[in-house]
Amino acid sequence: MCGITGYIGKNNNAIKVVMDGLESLEYRGYDSSGIAYTNNNKLNVIKEKGKIINLKNNIDFNIKSNLAIGHTRWATHGEPNKVNSHPHQVNKFTIVHNGIIENYIELKEELLKNNYTFKSSTDTEIAVAYIDFIYKKEKDILKTLNYITKVFRGSYALGIICNDDLNNLYAVRKTSPLIIAKGTNENYIASDVPAILKYTNKYMLLDDYEIAKISSDNIEIYNQKLELVTKDTLEFEGTYESSMKNGYEHFMLKEIHEEPNVFKDTINTYLDKDFKNIPGFSKYNNIHIVACGSAYHTGLVGKYLIEKYANIPVYVEVASEYRYKHNFYDEKTLVILVSQSGETADTLACLKKVKEDGIDTLGIVNVVGSSVARESKYVMYTKAGCEIAVATTKAYLAQLTVFSVITMYLTNNKTLIEEISTIPTLIDNLINKDYKPIAKEIYKNKDIFFIGRGIDYSIAMEGSLKLKEISYINSVAYQAGELKHGTISLIEKNTPVIAISTDDTLSEKTISNIKEVKARGAKVIFVTNQNINDNFYDIKIDIPRVNELLQPILTIVPLQLLAYEVAKLNKCDIDKPRNLAKSVTVE
Ligand code: AGP
Repeated sequence: MCGITGYIGKNNNAIKVVMDGLESLEYRGYDSSGIAYTNNNKLNVIKEKGKIINLKNNIDFNIKSNLAIGHTRWATHGEPNKVNSHPHQVNKFTIVHNGIIENYIELKEELLKNNYTFKSSTDTEIAVAYIDFIYKKEKDILKTLNYITKVFRGSYALGIICNDDLNNLYAVRKTSPLIIAKGTNENYIASDVPAILKYTNKYMLLDDYEIAKISSDNIEIYNQKLELVTKDTLEFEGTYESSMKNGYEHFMLKEIHEEPNVFKDTINTYLDKDFKNIPGFSKYNNIHIVACGSAYHTGLVGKYLIEKYANIPVYVEVASEYRYKHNFYDEKTLVILVSQSGETADTLACLKKVKEDGIDTLGIVNVVGSSVARESKYVMYTKAGCEIAVATTKAYLAQLTVFSVITMYLTNNKTLIEEISTIPTLIDNLINKDYKPIAKEIYKNKDIFFIGRGIDYSIAMEGSLKLKEISYINSVAYQAGELKHGTISLIEKNTPVIAISTDDTLSEKTISNIKEVKARGAKVIFVTNQNINDNFYDIKIDIPRVNELLQPILTIVPLQLLAYEVAKLNKCDIDKPRNLAKSVTVE
């Protein structure tokens, strides 16, 4: 996902602030970067392929500039190269863009007829050319940007500089996130809060189709009728340091170590002696859970717990499938959308479709004020704080915690409050075990299997995703009982099989499945809360036994750390795995 930063201010700190911001957004994943900055009333554009250091090497940080925009690009249209990098400039306009202009081809045809030519293969260059084209008619920047909000289709967050007005930085958005942040004699724009935390924690959220006109000491925001609107100023609860590594080698490791407090903060938001901050569920007799990736995996755990304990039917689907299927919902359905970033395009598209059909929605979201949070009828925030590593860990654990709380709420179960108080220490104990010896046993393998039954299968899916997304080892999670129906043909001597068993009612069958793979030479890593000493496994990872509503929160911790240690041995870019983005804002 692309990253945008922008600065305007009397302190002439534009280049440093914009570049600091881009570095704070590296976690989003990118393949090139660029900056446009004013100097002596001239606009300079520098852009480079590859890591931000390539851009920094071409910048003179002694230049005092009062206006700049910056961009990290995650290529969608056009390969990663200098020409396709942002900012893109056409005549008086220079822009940076996050999102996809879906009708760029028809816009290009109109522009070609008006003698525009193009250097890059991007939709963004067409967008800035179209802004220039309309400006020549409107001769007013606000009217021009308002016009394009009625023409551009798709998603966009735009940072805009116009040579006719270098006293203002402009911004406009639809679907792609953009914040306007407030400093002292300077103001900022950014795709996400970490980009400005070094300078301020006060920010506003731009809504779809709104235009921001930002000077060094004033921020004006206009709606689609070009009326001035007022916005609440939000204060981010974390600090710049809390969004940085604080001495850990990787953000992922830091964020796993934060899990005891994340559990505490999340559970305390919804439960002390009684339940609080939980929307009413009583009018619903069926639930749909829609999400992507790891968030989808927490939905599977939620399904298992809610169906087993609250006896409410739950249907779970990945968002990219759900939005195109004929779904059976009505006024008694609650659709729950789970999303750490709250900006995942597929999940957001489902939310909009379901709302159009008049169905109630609950967002389980980590980023305060994100699109899913703002567009859902109800929202339950996970209190994971800023999660920088692309591979989610603490936010995933917080989502599990919310589903545990929902199940306790639906069954009015207040009997776990004492056991809940032990969970942070139990998580910490699991974090402080050494998983390196186990990682050394498997990090050279090309295929690693995860198996489990029932709720353990859902955890196996997340353990497998964590491993493959950061260590690049092919991994798959299988229902333990299903392996023998074909896939067991792949098991050969020393094939690692990570078998999860925490459900006593299924343990015997799972152990039979483990013996099946063991008999074919597998190297079995047994992850369990059961005291079983036998030779059907090679390595055992013990998990404390707690109530089933809380068990998944413990089971996932060793799997996250095992994935981390394997990725480290494979010398992978753990926080920014290849090809991945922290939030996938394209469909
Ligand atoms: C998490 O490790 C993955 N990188 C990814 O699957 C992620 O969970 C998915 O893209 C959903 O993101 P969201 O929670 O921000 O919607």
